[in-house]
Amino acid sequence: MAGIYIHIPFCRKRCSYCDFHFSTSFEKYRGDLIRKIGEEIEFRKSELNEQIDTIYIGGGTPSILAPAELDLLLNQIFKHYKTTSLDEVTLEVNPEDVDANKLTYWKSLGVNRLSIGLQSIKEQDLRWMNRAHAAKDGKDAIRLAAQKGFNRISADIMYGLPDLTTHHWVDTLEQMVRLPINHISTYCLTVEPKTSLKKNIATGQLKMPSEESIENQFHLMIDTFVGKGFEHYEVSNFAHPGEESVHNSNYWKGIPYLGFGPSAHSYDGLRRRWNISNNLSYIKANFSCSDWFESETLSKENKWNELFLTGLRARWGVKTTDILEAGGFTENESERLEYWETLGCLTLNPQFISLTNKGMLLADKITQDFFRLT
Ligand SMILES: C[S@@+](CC[C@H](N)C(=O)[O-])C[C@H]1O[C@@H](n2cnc3c(N)ncnc32)[C@H](O)[C@@H]1O
Ligand code: SF4
Repeated sequence: MAGIYIHIPFCRKRCSYCDFHFSTSFEKYRGDLIRKIGEEIEFRKSELNEQIDTIYIGGGTPSILAPAELDLLLNQIFKHYKTTSLDEVTLEVNPEDVDANKLTYWKSLGVNRLSIGLQSIKEQDLRWMNRAHAAKDGKDAIRLAAQKGFNRISADIMYGLPDLTTHHWVDTLEQMVRLPINHISTYCLTVEPKTSLKKNIATGQLKMPSEESIENQFHLMIDTFVGKGFEHYEVSNFAHPGEESVHNSNYWKGIPYLGFGPSAHSYDGLRRRWNISNNLSYIKANFSCSDWFESETLSKENKWNELFLTGLRARWGVKTTDILEAGGFTENESERLEYWETLGCLTLNPQFISLTNKGMLLADKITQDFFRLT
């Protein structure tokens, strides 16, 4: 069981809040970069002998890819990896790229799940975000994808936005549950250094909401989505039963994956590795050398921290057997465990430890409470 991630580092515009790895001036080298990712896929084939269950093509903006480019990448995977048990191929899609023709060829190439980046359905937000689409485009894209036969559609939406009133948030949530989607990924806006959002906050052009109103938005979101049949299966993710993202769930379960393309991460169960975050250096890389990626073998402490970092966020929690295998809790950690249980934030089951609904809101704080120094 394993997954493959491909990072496409191209975007039409620079969204004001985003610090992922991407370039907006990629046309002069796009062909070279896609071919190079194709070469990486082939070059690293001996690293993964297991069956590939999921492929996730993310970015950046992979929906920019032309049919031949996407075809090249997927075919390299089909040619060099074991894909007979492949059951989920997700493409991250920006609304402005969606049309009937593209939907048809994505389907014909084997894509069976779309993750569509709405981010907001309020025009004013999309403008300060510097998004390349309008509010109507987002909803139209989802409806068209459903009409064209995509029955696994996820939407990304952000909360904790400047000037987001309760009224607007409730309206957003109500509109979301009326869309033909069966998965929702939510993101609480973070103000990253070196983004134009950061500057706009510093100059007072935009004002971040209070902790209290973010908390309120989080609760409203859970109540609305759960009330409409979505399961809150991970701190930031909701799905209709059986529609969880297999690819992302496998990340949280610690299942190995290979990541191709600039800045992509890989994990083989023992080691994490990340590719160079520079498109031109990636194109020039000699794959036989080791100067185009960095890697880290996980120490005992790293593995312990990962158990909590990944497992605790998900509904299924951290397995007791994994905790015991990693050496078990120290006395001090056991006390903290009891503390969070008494506060109603953790459920201690003989088989696993998991967050309660209340604990989901404090997931980062609780997780960090079990971290060990590396
Ligand atoms: C890197 S984007 C790629 C998806 C696609 N390009 C799009 O824009 O919809 C993946 C997700 O990260 C989230 N994201 C990026 N920057 C963020 C930030 N500063 N705070 C919270 N979420 C962020 C967005 O919600 C986005 O859907
Ligand atoms: S949010 Fe998506 S489209 Fe916007 S810059 Fe980031 S990766 Fe690109």
